[in-house]
Amino acid sequence: MKNTIIYLDNAAGSFPKPESVYKTMDRVIRESGGNPGRSGHKLSLSASRLIEETRLLCAKLFHAESNENIIFTNNATTALNIAIKGVINPKDHILTSTLEHNSVSRPLDYINTFQLNNITKIHTDLNHGLNVDDIKKSLLPNTKLLVCTHISNVTGTINDIASIGAFCRDNGIIFLVDAAQSAGNKYINVQEMCIDMLAFPGHKGLLGPQGTGGLYIRKGIELKTILQGGTGNLSEMLAQPDSMPYKFESGTPNTHGLAGLGAGIKFILDTGIDEIEKRETFLINRLIKGLQNICVENTTCSLNFIKPDIGIYRGSLLSINFENNLKKECQQYQFSPTDIAMILDNEYNIAVRSGLHCAADAHRSLNTLEKGGTLRISPNFMNTEEDIDDFCFALKEILSARL
Ligand code: ALA
Repeated sequence: MKNTIIYLDNAAGSFPKPESVYKTMDRVIRESGGNPGRSGHKLSLSASRLIEETRLLCAKLFHAESNENIIFTNNATTALNIAIKGVINPKDHILTSTLEHNSVSRPLDYINTFQLNNITKIHTDLNHGLNVDDIKKSLLPNTKLLVCTHISNVTGTINDIASIGAFCRDNGIIFLVDAAQSAGNKYINVQEMCIDMLAFPGHKGLLGPQGTGGLYIRKGIELKTILQGGTGNLSEMLAQPDSMPYKFESGTPNTHGLAGLGAGIKFILDTGIDEIEKRETFLINRLIKGLQNICVENTTCSLNFIKPDIGIYRGSLLSINFENNLKKECQQYQFSPTDIAMILDNEYNIAVRSGLHCAADAHRSLNTLEKGGTLRISPNFMNTEEDIDDFCFALKEILSARL
């Protein structure tokens, strides 16, 4: 077993971070530890400056009109809750997809219980994503919002956000995108793609720390806030300030976390999204090729690739599951994705994620809900070819030893 961990769980959170992220956070918590926007002393002012620098970097990365369109949250889930609950009124019709994470499915289910919203979950083609014609067929006169993932965290299926956005804009529907698996590794231009709101985590592709994230809100989108409190401005007013970003940023922010996020985004901008995407595509293709060789050699065990089909443009993740082809009496040797993930961790020091990936709807539509979900391998551009080859070798050994 190798001493250093082979980390292939970047869809859950990127690791390791660029050195500049660690260094920035350490420096900021030591040297800029004031409460941003609350006091007039140097430590408070320098904390404010750091947060505003990160806001500018987010606006640059996502091509927002201005830094004022970006609000910070703890993660993408909080951003999605703010967006969904802030925009939906009782009885509005909402469109979403069958491939969503619980961060979308659960807030929708929650508001539906007392607001009587009509929610349509549109079937998603695993190779090509949501189809605009299917969206068209699901439209109702009171359709207010379409919320969908950019890239599925279970399959890697990519939705054609630009086409969906154009359709929504033409039909007066608010378009909310969950960029949990695409922010930092796929080109996103909120203006070009007609995105009204974009929820993003800081700790995945943006290479920042956990506890950071945000929401882009297009100017003109009417959004109620689900949280009220101190903002450091207009304190004499009882009502929550209406100006951006204060309306949505009550309470002391995570200054060192957001400064770390800024360092992560700088690293991405310096490296280039195209370079990142190219490298991740190369690693995923190498992984698929390596696993195809295992399939050929182990005829008593089928390793199933979950769609998208091989060769289709996808996110940097792959889900697989296993079925043995042994006789009935040997069915107890069926491999569960979680068994394999535990062996990979314990015996090979390889980190992947198994199970349902907090996305029961997606697994329901794949028919993997009852089978213990899938084993998901998610490299990022910092992984090496050797990491991929070691994973394939380990999986081959595990499957062979148990046949
Ligand atoms: N949503 C994250 C994942 O897909 C945590 O693993």
